[in-house]
Amino acid sequence: MAVMVTGGAGYIGSHTCVELLEAGYDVVVVDNFDNSHPDVLRRVEEITGRTLFREAGDVRDRTFLEQVLKRHKCDAVMHFAGLKSVAESTEKPLHYYDCNVVGTIRLLEAMRSVDVKKIVFSSSATVYGEPEQLPFNEDHRLAPANTYGRSKLVVEDILRDIHRGNKNWHIAILRYFNPVGAHESGLIGEDPKGIPNNLMPLIAQVASGKREKLMIWGSDYPTRDGTGVRDYIHVEDVAKGHVRALKKLAEPQCLTLNLGSGQGYSVFEVIRAFETVTGQIIPYEIAERRAGDIAEYYADPTQANEILNWTAQKTLSEMCQDMWNWQSKNVV
Ligand code: NAD
Ligand code: WQD
Repeated sequence: MAVMVTGGAGYIGSHTCVELLEAGYDVVVVDNFDNSHPDVLRRVEEITGRTLFREAGDVRDRTFLEQVLKRHKCDAVMHFAGLKSVAESTEKPLHYYDCNVVGTIRLLEAMRSVDVKKIVFSSSATVYGEPEQLPFNEDHRLAPANTYGRSKLVVEDILRDIHRGNKNWHIAILRYFNPVGAHESGLIGEDPKGIPNNLMPLIAQVASGKREKLMIWGSDYPTRDGTGVRDYIHVEDVAKGHVRALKKLAEPQCLTLNLGSGQGYSVFEVIRAFETVTGQIIPYEIAERRAGDIAEYYADPTQANEILNWTAQKTLSEMCQDMWNWQSKNVV
């Protein structure tokens, strides 16, 4: 079975390519390398000992996608390609809607025209917004508080409408919480361009000496130690969840599932775990809260467990270990 993986050279896409190849699928990566490097795909091949197909291009190019789907006789699509910065989405809303929403519409049109009706979509816990209750289960109200989150919710709604109109589609919408870590080989991982926004890459850069200190955005939240609490999940667990979801899509349906560990950790707890695992000291400074941040949220992963027989396996220590292994081997 051949799977077209859009955004397959990116952080989560590349780890999922590894899992797909190891599970015996043929993989066709479509990427415009806007936020990744083609060498990642060579590394995926090195890890797995298998080859994959590369198709450089943009998901907004419907004709190109149709040709790729036909040429490789793809049976399914995993759709990671998109833009993911909350801050940038506020500055460039049209660019975000174009890439994330229009890009997905072009992809779905291409799929329909060549009769490929199986798709796994990268959504985000950001679609929930401010928690009404925790943990977030999939029935929680959807009220994203930023442009990026709204672009994800629009796509979710489009996918649900497609399934309402035609029950022959096989759709899995996966809402990731906070993916971190890297492949245990240290060959692939996240290498953000410019200054990272996310906690774990910033901690790793402070540990490596690239940055002087970590700014902790607020220590006065109503959480157990005052810092923000999130559900961190190892990127390899996220990737494995995709292969499980694809297998589940043997039957037509529209699934929406959280991919999280179910466990929240505070910023201080992450720093401590990283220091313990790596032996590095992370200097930090307490700063004002970051605009738009939520105090605490984590997943209810029960449905993914029941429907996919999937649970996050890797601990926070393993996330820190693999992050550090990747950072020390690759990122200067
Ligand atoms: P990433 O930026 O590392 O990967 C995205 C890939 O898509 C990159 O290789 C990029 O070059 C490519 N791409 C972007 N726009 C494209 C386009 N128009 N055409 C073709 N390729 C394009 O991001 P990631 O962290 O791997 O995220 C993958 C998906 O998961 C995204 O849709 C993101 O919104 C979603 N997601 C990520 C997180 C997270 O914390 N990383 C959390 C929830 C959801
Ligand atoms: C985690 C915690 C910060 C940086 C974002 C997106 C979300 C999803 C994942 C794609 C918070 C604190 C952070 C720093 C800090 N992406 N922090 N100092 O905000 O939960 O989620 O990435 O879908 O959509 O919003 O992740 O890693 O930025 O923050 O104190 O320098 O670390 O306040 O409590 P977040 P994060």
